[in-house]
Amino acid sequence: MEASCLVVLLRLCVQILCLPAYLLWYLGIWDPICKKVFPHVLAVLSSIYSKRMYDKKKEMFSNLKDFSSPTGALTLLEIGTGTGSNFQFYPAGCKIICNDPNPNFQKFIDKSLAENPHVQVEHCLVAPAEDLHQVPAASVDVVVSTLVLCCVKSPEQVMKEVLRVLRLRGLGIPVRFSLSFSF
Ligand SMILES: C[S@@+](CC[C@H](N)C(=O)[O-])C[C@H]1O[C@@H](n2cnc3c(N)ncnc32)[C@H](O)[C@@H]1O
Repeated sequence: MEASCLVVLLRLCVQILCLPAYLLWYLGIWDPICKKVFPHVLAVLSSIYSKRMYDKKKEMFSNLKDFSSPTGALTLLEIGTGTGSNFQFYPAGCKIICNDPNPNFQKFIDKSLAENPHVQVEHCLVAPAEDLHQVPAASVDVVVSTLVLCCVKSPEQVMKEVLRVLRLRGLGIPVRFSLSFSF
């Protein structure tokens, strides 16, 4: 009896705590708030995560140069770029096409670019990776995605787009995915 009262009380507390979020969602302003706040939260988390994963990421990205075009140029599409925490691992001269549906990451991308002058951003696509129609078929050498496929609506559609935009040269599939959350 006492335990069930406690459960009801806990449920009530959770419902009361969630009430402001429900209200904001009902009024249609929850999503815009999340989109504004999330980049700030991610900036803090990804700086911790990148330090912890530094060696693994360095190794994972170490062969990117192998996928350069015969002229030596390397065009890299990063889906779900977020704050641009991976820029530090890309080879010098690399041209990046950023992709993220949240436009509020732009100032974090600019900051990462200022800290990593060895790379250039060609353009930033504000769109879900399920629809990359602005990127021509067979136009990028490498696609990178870290901690993204877990939050897309359709991983299958993202993979179709990835295979469409990749320039395949018989070197294996130049896709670097990471779904590791280990700290
Ligand atoms: C956990 S963060 C990872 C950011 C970055 N890749 C990193 O490793 O620090 C997930 C990112 O995926 C983006 N995202 C969510 N849905 C997406 C989609 N459908 N297509 C592309 N990016 C998406 C989010 O806006 C966010 O920037």
